[in-house]
Amino acid sequence: MSLFNKPKNGNGNGNGHMIDLRDVHKYYKTAIGDYHALNSIDLQIEAGEFVSIIGKSGSGKSTLLNMITGIDRPTSGEVQVNGTEVQKLNENRMARWRGKNLGIVFQFFQLLPTISVIENIMLPMDFCRTYPMREREKRALELLEMVELREHAYKLPTALSGGQQQRVAIARALANDPPIVIADEPTGNLDSKTAESVFALFNDLVAKGKTIIIVTHDSGLAKRTHRTALITDGEIVNEYVAKAMPTLTQDQLLEATRDAKCLTFEPGAMILSEGTNAESFYIVSRGTVEVVLPRENQSDVIALQLGPGKYFGEIEFFHEKKHRASIRASERGQVEVLCIGYDQLNELLNQSAATREALHQAADQHEAENLAHRGETS
Ligand SMILES: Nc1ncnc2c1ncn2[C@@H]1O[C@H](COP(=O)(O)OP(=O)(O)OP(=O)(O)O)[C@@H](O)[C@H]1O
Ligand SMILES: [Mg+2]
Repeated sequence: MSLFNKPKNGNGNGNGHMIDLRDVHKYYKTAIGDYHALNSIDLQIEAGEFVSIIGKSGSGKSTLLNMITGIDRPTSGEVQVNGTEVQKLNENRMARWRGKNLGIVFQFFQLLPTISVIENIMLPMDFCRTYPMREREKRALELLEMVELREHAYKLPTALSGGQQQRVAIARALANDPPIVIADEPTGNLDSKTAESVFALFNDLVAKGKTIIIVTHDSGLAKRTHRTALITDGEIVNEYVAKAMPTLTQDQLLEATRDAKCLTFEPGAMILSEGTNAESFYIVSRGTVEVVLPRENQSDVIALQLGPGKYFGEIEFFHEKKHRASIRASERGQVEVLCIGYDQLNELLNQSAATREALHQAADQHEAENLAHRGETS
């Protein structure tokens, strides 16, 4: 029997995100008034992704994780995890749902000190009853084997080193074979060599199909995950905005993120038609869009396919403000694009000459490529 089943996406339609936060706000009540800890967070994470969250102390990283785990609730907005609207669960159902769907790892391990290592791992199985009683000990031992601690199974956690305790905590997080593992500074309390072994363990789990989110202060580790979300004063910098305009400063990226409106299109849907007035700059944030060039007396030609982080509408911003091509969502799946109006783009570019220059160059180059495409094929 294998330790982990292949994770299923609970959304059923195969199009849903594993984790999906929409316009999430969190206010904390304090003696001096409400504190806005999360400000309009939009974050989508797909099944099987390994995502790191970085940001200064107090920026809202733990608060964000607490929204996903249901440890705390958003003041407004929606949080969907594996097809469930987390904020709608009552306390009773929440605990069971969490036990089955999420493995949670903390900076300070939080193992129960008075029971043995193996009992710590069996506890979540006893709570959720995902495995029959007779299988629980065997499974716990196999999990301990995976983290190379089988011989410590019957010791108390305090007899183990920090790194070992963290590996026990990871084994515990996996007790019910959850599709998602969430870890808040899992290596923050470990020396670099031990941190490395814990990180390697996460990598193995990703390879086995788990979806993993870690908060970390270690930018070196963050770079080795699939994606990094940067959070600043409770706001998330959109990673595709950052990818499209890498020369913007952090504050400018936040501004661009605030300016951007997210639009969703069904597979094959037309996004822009050739010949219409151009008003906005677009960045692809999910799926693929096709640039369709019309040709006289011939069928249209798909000149280009653009994936996440790629953009369109920059040619028209620098040249004539009429669309030169049609843009449509690829048939392969739903598409999301971020839309920034030309006035807002212009304001941004006024603050960053380097970005204006980069986009202008891209516009000239793309224009030349489009012309070549029409020429070649007509
Ligand atoms: N229960 C609470 N009541 C009031 N304010 C809170 C509460 N929890 C967090 N905050 C505040 O919200 C902000 C974000 O806190 P959070 O713990 O999410 O930050 P963080 O990014 O995880 O920081 P660190 O890297 O230090 O762990 C901080 O300014 C914090 O003081
Ligand atoms: Mg924190």
